[in-house]
Amino acid sequence: MGPAQPSERNRRVTIQTIAVLGAGIMGRGIAYVSVLGGFRTILQDTSQEALDRATSEITALLEKGVATGKVAEDAAVTARKRLSTSRSLADAAREAGLVIEAVPETIDVKVELFATLDRAAPPAAILASNTSSLSITEMAAATKRPGQVVGMHFFNPVHRMKLVELVRGLETSDETLDITDRAAQAMGKETVIVKESPGFVTSRINVLIGNEAFTMLESGVASARDIDKALKLGLNHPMGPFELVDLVGLDTRLSILEYLHRTLGDKYRPSPLLIQYVKAGRLGRKVGRGVYEYPS
Ligand SMILES: NC(=O)c1ccc[n+]([C@@H]2O[C@H](COP(=O)([O-])OP(=O)(O)OC[C@H]3O[C@@H](n4cnc5c(N)ncnc54)[C@H](O)[C@@H]3O)[C@@H](O)[C@H]2O)c1
Repeated sequence: MGPAQPSERNRRVTIQTIAVLGAGIMGRGIAYVSVLGGFRTILQDTSQEALDRATSEITALLEKGVATGKVAEDAAVTARKRLSTSRSLADAAREAGLVIEAVPETIDVKVELFATLDRAAPPAAILASNTSSLSITEMAAATKRPGQVVGMHFFNPVHRMKLVELVRGLETSDETLDITDRAAQAMGKETVIVKESPGFVTSRINVLIGNEAFTMLESGVASARDIDKALKLGLNHPMGPFELVDLVGLDTRLSILEYLHRTLGDKYRPSPLLIQYVKAGRLGRKVGRGVYEYPS
């Protein structure tokens, strides 16, 4: 018998602990599927308020899962026990086999985070980014383990959306992809593998639709409600583009568009109306108003 094939070796690697960095919209969703997937999960954020809010939302989601029969009661109790929080990156990363970052969509912030993380996480740990568009290779270059850096692009809301785009940076190894693929599957997700390119597959298409919707709204083609209705009933989109951008966050969407505009060209130039909304602080559901109002 020859040496074990890579796939045989890979099957022996198991991840027990996942650190999720950033407890915003995405981080709390990833932590939720992670604890349900059987992983001890440490959710980290620099803001205690974000951690408190995330903890109560995850607890409420588990309770709702039990109430609607989607999650067994004992599974919810065990899952809740797997969750802990920390404001310290070093503490969160210390025992992690996989770290998934979900901090704001700014390359400088992410590059700095990966450099720090590289020193804090065990040498064997895989470092993943939930970026919607940015370069995994650039984050990997800030570490001494570029083969263990990968994109894990989850979708919002994480507990409902089936897909994780696995993004292969220039030096991401097959083993890293294999391990993260299995972690995503344990979290109940399906995966596709995408070679790194700005916006991957999904964001690259989705932001074009969303940006065009703002351009149409600005030029008075139809009201926001009618544009949403047209795409839902005429094109079978589950949500209208304005409902979706309110869920995603207008600031996050603008950051993605600005990056794709720089890297892929003029067709991604952000709509002036979207920029105005962000300047006005209308960032979406997370602040109670975006294109629509969400009275609390
Ligand atoms: N919102 C979406 O629909 C969506 C979908 C897929 C991917 N993403 C990506 O996920 C990432 C996070 O987006 P989000 O919408 O959850 O953002 P968010 O603004 O809701 O949350 C970001 C969180 O990160 C925290 N944070 C900031 N700097 C930090 C640091 N250095 N260390 C630890 N925590 C820090 C903030 O306090 C905040 O709680 C972005 O890269 C975004 O592109 C977002």
